[in-house]
Amino acid sequence: MSITRKEEIPGWHVYPAPTPLVQAVADRILEMARTAIARRGVFKIVLAGGTTPAALYRTLAENDLDWKNWRIYFSDERCLPADDSERNSVMVACNWLDQITAPLPEVFVIPAELGPDQAAENYARVIRDARPFDLVLLGAGEDGHTASLFPGHQYPEEELVHVENNAPKPPSRRVTLSYGTLCDAELVLFLVTGSAKNDMVKSWRNGDDLPVNHVHGRNGTDVYLDAAAGAMCESGPDKTGDE
Ligand code: 6PG
Repeated sequence: MSITRKEEIPGWHVYPAPTPLVQAVADRILEMARTAIARRGVFKIVLAGGTTPAALYRTLAENDLDWKNWRIYFSDERCLPADDSERNSVMVACNWLDQITAPLPEVFVIPAELGPDQAAENYARVIRDARPFDLVLLGAGEDGHTASLFPGHQYPEEELVHVENNAPKPPSRRVTLSYGTLCDAELVLFLVTGSAKNDMVKSWRNGDDLPVNHVHGRNGTDVYLDAAAGAMCESGPDKTGDE
């Protein structure tokens, strides 16, 4: 599949290092939240898992905000005990939610400790009432996966939440928002750092048939990279961060 529709072509933003990248993304998220809350009284954000966004969540936690109008959801979760350090919900709590004080956001954790089928059924009810989102924040794996949607796997179009029992990235059992749900957002924002992602980013930009190329927001998709991940960008990284 090659990307055909203009609105599906991401905006690429390369920063010289992870620190200015994370600050730029945090500033953008906080501005989006202010705008959404002013307009609709609530800001609905889907959070990325993995390790890359931890620095972003720590940066967000540095802001002494009234978080009560934030609604926080998860793009995916590993089927592990609720307090397991490998859970995305634990990573977000350690780096952000446990560091802030009231008034706190409303957080909708995927109950993956129940096992993939029950968790997916429960979360689909949550998602049904939550869509559309203001922002979906995602990472990307070296194989071009995002959330827990992997290359070569089949995904029924009508699903809100998908059960994954054979994830190539451990643990094998996961629960993930579907492509349709991830695209049900004003904006999709990817955060990608490190040279290990460089080859994948080149394929991504070529429009190759990767999960990252199947997720785009209604009003656009932006990919924020550090120089190591985005080394191929023609203009190269600059202070402002945009190409
Ligand atoms: C997960 C994530 C996954 C992650 C990518 C990138 O549960 O593992 O949802 O999609 O975002 O694998 O992971 P890193 O940020 O650790 O490179």
